Amino acid sequence: MPKILVVETSPRGEASISRQLTKRVISNWRLLNQDGEVITRDLAVAALPHVTMPWLSAYFTPPNTHTPDMAAQLRLSDALVEELLAADELVIATPVYNYNIPASLKAWIDHIVRKGLTLGFDGKGLLTGKKATVIIASGGIYGAASPIEHLNFAPRYLESILNVLGITDVTIIHGEGAKAVDLGEATMDKFVDAVVPEMKRSAAA
Ligand SMILES: Cc1cc2nc3c(=O)[nH]c(=O)nc-3n(C[C@H](O)[C@H](O)[C@H](O)COP(=O)(O)O)c2cc1C
Repeated sequence: MPKILVVETSPRGEASISRQLTKRVISNWRLLNQDGEVITRDLAVAALPHVTMPWLSAYFTPPNTHTPDMAAQLRLSDALVEELLAADELVIATPVYNYNIPASLKAWIDHIVRKGLTLGFDGKGLLTGKKATVIIASGGIYGAASPIEHLNFAPRYLESILNVLGITDVTIIHGEGAKAVDLGEATMDKFVDAVVPEMKRSAAA
């Protein structure tokens, strides 16, 4: 049974464009994976703690010499890594904030990049064989001809960190110009249809 892990970050609930795009991506995925399981990690519902000194002490201590406190420091990170390792596919859905990913998503990344678990001691990524889809909603439009193309850090960063972890099959879905929906210049349905067309049942068969 294929498993897909969906990491959601937008705090905007139903008004969130990245979440609506995710719904479409997952509904298309379900047509292709009818026995598939979707696991959701919602970072807007349960925010992750940022890295602290006790966490780092545990991180840099070999697991076989962990004190009970060190083991406790890494418990959440261990669970997030386990969740990721168990997934065949990963979806990351995120807004662009200040030209980059929100801090909530960066916190998740800081928890799942773990030497010996997701990143080899030789620096090679250990998540080989997984596929990732990155869904990005941004108010602005970035592209070769855009005057803000040089500020398009979010997709570059996410693709790079996934590559570092060994995930090379990365599809990026650009929900650019999403402010048209917030300003009432486009409907959410039209925007979603244009960015991620609905897969027809016959196409999936
Ligand atoms: C605090 C904040 C900062 C933002 N910064 C940017 C930005 O730097 N570049 C951009 O293109 N859009 C920016 N936006 C617009 C959002 O990316 C856009 O509203 C997007 O649809 C948010 O994703 P969501 O609809 O899934 O919540 C920002 C929005 C907020 C609330």
